[in-house]
Amino acid sequence: MPAPLDVLLEVPEFSAAVRGGVPPEPLARRYGGPLAIPLRADRPTVLVNFVESLDGIVALGAGPRSGGSDISGASEPDRFVMALLRTLADAVVVGAGTLRAAPRHEWTPRAVAPRWEEACAAWRTEMGLAPQPTTVVVSASGDLPVAHPGLSRADVPAVIATTAAGARRIAEQGVPGRARVEVLAEDRAVEPAALLDLLARCGTRIALCEGGPHLLGDLLAAAAVDELFLTVAPHLLGRGSGEGRLGLVEGRAWPPAAAPWVSLRSVRRAGSHLFLRYALDGRRALPAP
Ligand SMILES: NC(=O)c1ccc[n+]([C@@H]2O[C@H](COP(=O)([O-])OP(=O)(O)OC[C@H]3O[C@@H](n4cnc5c(N)ncnc54)[C@H](OP(=O)(O)O)[C@@H]3O)[C@@H](O)[C@H]2O)c1
Repeated sequence: MPAPLDVLLEVPEFSAAVRGGVPPEPLARRYGGPLAIPLRADRPTVLVNFVESLDGIVALGAGPRSGGSDISGASEPDRFVMALLRTLADAVVVGAGTLRAAPRHEWTPRAVAPRWEEACAAWRTEMGLAPQPTTVVVSASGDLPVAHPGLSRADVPAVIATTAAGARRIAEQGVPGRARVEVLAEDRAVEPAALLDLLARCGTRIALCEGGPHLLGDLLAAAAVDELFLTVAPHLLGRGSGEGRLGLVEGRAWPPAAAPWVSLRSVRRAGSHLFLRYALDGRRALPAP
């Protein structure tokens, strides 16, 4: 049995409406206690989960083997935390870039932590959730791999949130797997508000966004993120010119006074990997006098 994560900080959760709490015993022992997610009344709660290097790199460049697992060093504790978060979610949301970079992945707990599959499934049943979270892919272009396994499993519902132009492209190329196509915009980006409406219509109370950095930028700009679960892998990757390495947030930038500020909620440790949980609680730095 892998060692429990060291709990270095845990801010108590006082929200009245939460999902989760104490998971089944093997998960609780490993995580080092309860994991409860406050539920919003006005829209789905949006969690974000990423792994980054110490210097903030989340992707090594274009193509497969450019993201999460290589950044984390295939960290088993990181995969365990990913599985826990997927277990709590009604929907796992990814941008098309993340889907294209992971041609064999499916966005379920079992795909990242098979040894915990049974316990995660038991926790979902206890919480009254569907057996698997719905995979939601956001794409403006509709240029998606037709046979992607993450959109093809009989027991994993899949939705593509796209534009009218994207839907036309999908109609030409063939619908990926078993996905349902939802048109949320004409020909440019899908607005986060429209995405949240779609998620709410699908009965989503918790959506887990697993990237990538461009989708995260759009969500942050629309104040559509509630919590960030960030694994910091203990290496410094650097950033040369023209390599296409990506930071945690791409395509958006804020001056510090207008940036989304966060509050630290918990810190866990496995070896030299840190597992940070932040609330995007709307606190803003005061404008300079
Ligand atoms: N370290 C980590 O934890 C982590 C997590 C996730 C991803 N990654 C890595 O990040 C890299 C991908 O980065 P990325 O920034 O390209 O990923 P991304 O945000 O998943 O993909 C960008 C694409 O998603 C679609 N998209 C994003 N926002 C949209 C919006 N508001 N409306 C419509 N479409 C939208 C667009 O797809 P179309 O081009 O189809 O229009 C866009 O080109 C990969 O290497 C991946 O492995 C790392």
